[in-house]
Amino acid sequence: MNPMTAPRHTKETLNLTAGTAPRRLTLAQRSNLLRLTAWGYAGWRARALTWLTGQPFSLEREAALFQTLCRPQPGERWLDAGTSAGFYAGVLARAGCAVLAADLSPAMLAVARRRVREPGIDWLLTNLEASGLPSASFSGVTVGATLNETQDPGRLLAELERLLRPGGPLWLMYIARTGGPLQRLLSRPALGGLTFPDPAWVARHLPRCVRTHSLQVGAVVFERYERGPQGGSRTPSQLPHRNL
Ligand SMILES: C[S@@+](CC[C@H](N)C(=O)[O-])C[C@H]1O[C@@H](n2cnc3c(N)ncnc32)[C@H](O)[C@@H]1O
Repeated sequence: MNPMTAPRHTKETLNLTAGTAPRRLTLAQRSNLLRLTAWGYAGWRARALTWLTGQPFSLEREAALFQTLCRPQPGERWLDAGTSAGFYAGVLARAGCAVLAADLSPAMLAVARRRVREPGIDWLLTNLEASGLPSASFSGVTVGATLNETQDPGRLLAELERLLRPGGPLWLMYIARTGGPLQRLLSRPALGGLTFPDPAWVARHLPRCVRTHSLQVGAVVFERYERGPQGGSRTPSQLPHRNL
């Protein structure tokens, strides 16, 4: 059964002061609050992977990669973490899933709701580093580059791992560390505060998940993780990591 048939904006759970310290936002996160950024985002997104991978990389190719590896099924409940203009939310809704499309930017959510009209999507304004959503409440989670922008990527990964059901897939797309001068500049708080994680660092911050697939094209990494059993830790021998 799909419990979320009508698109609606459920509630706001920004939790900017949750946890031990106030949740500050990176400059990149704050730039996403602007209507101009939200307005231009879908256009940038359609071309971004071609630019970042150095080869033709359409949204259709990205969606096909995700669908082949994660196989979202009708009736499943997925979280799209940092939905922006709703790319993964749309892919999931067209596959018949119920989707919670979450973002901390009201402007992004407004654009996404206008662009992605499929039924079965719920839109939520929240900071996913501390969402307050129930544990193990999603069949799967998509994270398209949100890891690069969030203030504390380790905290975001821990929260997403908590929200994922045992056996559920976690799909990550992010720009990995290259050590180049542009990334060093964009990592500075005053110039974006972006994080460019190393895949080994990501794996260490998902102790209850196993990485089942990974692919790096240029600077862009696509990874599928799978949540281990409830309360358990990773079992690499059961789920060998495959490079594509
Ligand atoms: C690079 S964009 C994501 C693009 C989108 N996932 C896609 O694949 O097209 C990052 C988005 O994540 C949101 N975001 C960043 N940090 C977040 C957080 N901690 N919680 C919720 N949303 C966040 C930003 O507002 C922005 O819209």
